[in-house]
Amino acid sequence: MTIKIAPSILAADFGRLAAEVGALDAAGCDYIHVDVMDGRFVPNITIGQPVVQALSEVTNKPLDVHLMIDEPERYVESFVDAGAALLTVHVEACRHVHRVLQQIKATGARAGLALNPGTPLEAIRWVLEDVDLVLLMSVNPGFGGQSFIPSTLAKLRALRSLLDEGSISCEVEVDGGIVQDNIAEVHAAGADVFVSGTGILGRADYAATMSAMRVCCAD
Ligand code: DX5
Ligand code: ZN
Repeated sequence: MTIKIAPSILAADFGRLAAEVGALDAAGCDYIHVDVMDGRFVPNITIGQPVVQALSEVTNKPLDVHLMIDEPERYVESFVDAGAALLTVHVEACRHVHRVLQQIKATGARAGLALNPGTPLEAIRWVLEDVDLVLLMSVNPGFGGQSFIPSTLAKLRALRSLLDEGSISCEVEVDGGIVQDNIAEVHAAGADVFVSGTGILGRADYAATMSAMRVCCAD
């Protein structure tokens, strides 16, 4: 299983965002992970559509936009218009999650569905065939630089079983506290897309860090 690495720009120097994204692109990332926070679903406020638009002009890597916002259905089209290739909403933030997933797909973007650490897999079981990616949060959303929550490993294994049972082939992304030292066991538990903010941007050499992560996950 070939892994994908999605550096989170939350850990970037925001004063040099275009240069940071250019450096991540050149260093060989697979996606650029963009954390959108609204100050309601999560305590922080980060960035919106104008920044996504600007980033889409400095990289050809798919923008993996993680909406940590309430009522995400109000913003689906505008984030896709701004350049999101993959748009992920939180199941906890959607009153009608199946409808929101169809809304994302109707734009032509890929649809991701995220779960907080305390949210049971049962919450997404009946829409699994409608998602392109499941994102398991391995920290509580809202902040970068937190520690990986160990129970995510068992949750990943349970998710893999559910996907195997249904012969469903969506991507499985994990987000929060991913570093070179723990990526192998998270991969072994079933993740194939890895978000990492401080684990990559907190290091001097982005290319070497991502290569080392890939080596840790090599079969
Ligand atoms: C947290 C965000 C993450 C965050 C990860 O709410 O969704 O994407 O940037 O940062 P690290 O890798 O530093 O935990
Ligand atoms: Zn994220």
